[in-house]
Formats: sequence, structure tokens, C-alpha cells
Amino acid sequence: MEIVDLRSDTVTHPTPAMREAMYRAEVGDDVFGDDPTVNRLEEMAAQRLGKEAALFVASGTMGNLVALLTHCGRGDQAVVGDHSHTFLFEQGGMAGLGGIMPWPVPNQPDGTLRLDDIEKSIRPENVHFARTRLICLENTHNVCDGTPLTADYTAQVARLAHSHGLRLHIDGARIFNAATALGVDVRDLVREADSVMFCLSKGLCAPVGSLLCGDAAFIQEARRVRKVVGGGMRQAGILAAAGIVALEQVVPRLAEDHERARQLAAGLAEIPSIQVAPVSTNILYFSLTNTAKTPEQVVEGLAERGILLLGRENGRFRAVTHYWIDDEGIERTVQAMREIMA
Ligand SMILES: Cc1ncc(COP(=O)(O)O)c(C=O)c1O
Repeated sequence: MEIVDLRSDTVTHPTPAMREAMYRAEVGDDVFGDDPTVNRLEEMAAQRLGKEAALFVASGTMGNLVALLTHCGRGDQAVVGDHSHTFLFEQGGMAGLGGIMPWPVPNQPDGTLRLDDIEKSIRPENVHFARTRLICLENTHNVCDGTPLTADYTAQVARLAHSHGLRLHIDGARIFNAATALGVDVRDLVREADSVMFCLSKGLCAPVGSLLCGDAAFIQEARRVRKVVGGGMRQAGILAAAGIVALEQVVPRLAEDHERARQLAAGLAEIPSIQVAPVSTNILYFSLTNTAKTPEQVVEGLAERGILLLGRENGRFRAVTHYWIDDEGIERTVQAMREIMA
């Protein structure tokens, strides 16, 4: 039985073209700046995002951590969404490793932070207060239904940050999904941000890696920080080669994943007792209403039928579409849910 793995877009295996590119990759010692494939990926990433420079890092968590450690010093305050990945799922690395105080602000259902709330979180100069240095946004917002943040909203936050002498970092783990869903160039979504991290190893299918982008001085400093957190990689061109294929070949097809997420949402919405959240990218949440079925029964029933998805503690289920999910996988999932809920 072929497995339909909807747990996350991080489960994606490299495409055949990626494996070929990895096999053939020209490599060198990247800590010396000698790996031509890493250098090419970093140049491509910077160019795609409209930034001066980029840095290849091992993961999204490392990219966000390096950004925070570069922007902030010990005792500084970083404003984050209370549902953000950085706040909830990165082990509090900014505090543990950087002595940075996260200041959570409520995420609205669409993933935004209200400008008023951000403004209130910025502490004035006072001997009692931590110094606010950074505002972080997440685009698309994973927990908030995979919603994309618009260019206009992001620009407003950037202007607010800059008017107070602060910086804006974007956790753009799925920023290309956001650009695809909004029908804009990805540069428009990050134009006024001071740094942005995006992942190659989610919907873009590469096996490992993320890129941190920003101006040349920021990336030069971030390169030092990456080294001290153990992220100086040597012949990393083997990995970067897959990233180049991701940008060239996988980004242009992300709309297919969004379309399949919509098909899945439409199929599930017809089943009694299933409530489907709005879907705008490749992430779909749903929950059960008025049923004796438990989330565990649903997850197990699906697993017996070769379908994997995540049941969360709050009773919500998450299904994520990606390169390796085809139309048949969507049909099988809807049919399996019909049987389980019958
Ligand atoms: C929005 C967001 N940011 C950051 C990360 C961290 O990425 P990684 O798993 O590569 O550390 C994730 C991972 O799922 C994510 O969804």
C-alpha cells in the first residue's frame, strides 16, 4: 500500500533531479568560502529575495536563531507572535543561547500581529526595561491556518519597527507558498524587512537547509554567528545543489499543492461532523464536531488505510500537501475519512 503522508511538507524526499544534481555537485570547503555550489545557491537566494546577501544554514530553526543572535544582544527584547514557530517550537533558543527575552504578542487568526499591540510591546528607554530590538513575523503562518501575510501588511510593520529604530525579521519558512498564494513576487513580501529566513526542506523538497537573507553587513555578522552555533559546514555543496534545483524547479509548481489542499478541504467539508478551516496555501486544518469519534480513532483509522496526518493536542488535525501528494492521494484521504466518520 502506498503511503499518503500528509503530516508535513518536511516529509518530502528529494526529487530525482535533486539526487542527480547532488551526485554531480562541485564542492569545496565552505568555511573558507570555497564551495562554488553553496556560493551559487546563496547568490540565487539573495537575488530571488531582493536582498544583498544570503547564508546557507542547516535548518529553519538555525536560521531564525542566527538571525535573532545577530540582531539582538543579551538582555534585549524580541517581539514575537504568541503562536509563532519561533516562540512555540524552537526550544526558547533565543533565551537559552542568546539571553534574548521573547515578548509574545497575540497572533490574530490570520497570522498577523495588530499594529497597536506591537506598538504597546515596544518599551521606552528606561533603566527598568529590556531594550526592544526586533520584531518577528511568520509568513506563511503555520499554526494560523497556513495564511499568507500580505506585502502591504508587512510593509506597515516594517515602517513601525523602523520608526522606533527596531528591525524586522521574517520567518519565511514557507515564503514561496505565500508569494504563490498571493500572486506576487516574493521580493514584494520582504522588501522592507531587515532579514528573512526561508526553508528549502519543506514544500521545496530539498533534503536539508534554509537560507538567511539580508544586507551584506548583516550576513557577514550572521556568518560568524552560524559558526559559533556549529553551523559551519564544509563540502555543503552536496546539499546546496538540491537547493538550487528547489528554487529552479519546485517553486514554480507550488500552486499545484495549494490546489490539492483546496480539493481536500472541499471533500472533507462534505462529510458530516468535520469542520474545515479556511485554506489558502498547502496547510489545511480541520476539527471534529458533534461526534463520539476521538481524534486518536481518526488518526489510527487513517493510518490503517495508509494515510498519515497530525492530530494536535487542541483537537485540530493538520494535513499538508506537497510534491509527493497527487490527486489520487487526495481522493483516498477523503474516501477514508468518509468511511471512518460513517
Ligand atoms: C514556520 C516555521 N518556521 C521555522 C521552522 C523550523 O524549521 P526546521 O524544522 O528546518 O528547523 C518550521 C518547521 O516546521 C516552521 O514551520
